[in-house]
Amino acid sequence: MSDPGSPGEESAAVTMVEIKARENGPYRVEGPIRLVDADGNEYDLGDRGEVIALCRCGGSTTKPFCDGTHSKKGFEAAERAVAEEHTGE
Ligand code: FES
Repeated sequence: MSDPGSPGEESAAVTMVEIKARENGPYRVEGPIRLVDADGNEYDLGDRGEVIALCRCGGSTTKPFCDGTHSKKGFEAAERAVAEEHTGE
């Protein structure tokens, strides 16, 4: 077993990060965030702090961040964690 404090190892401490699917919009991510690209390079989150919005409509010109384009293109994402009940009426 490796030492969790070793360089290159992930910290053993776990902090809850919330990812919320916004209504017909981006994923809102809140918590201590380290966002990296496909090469492992870290994005500069600047003054975004611990809250970012990630595009899930595919239309943003600032991917992976949301730039509001989802509203202009009428993006719809109706999925829910719990399915709605259909009463048949
Ligand atoms: S979700 Fe906002 S631009 Fe894609």
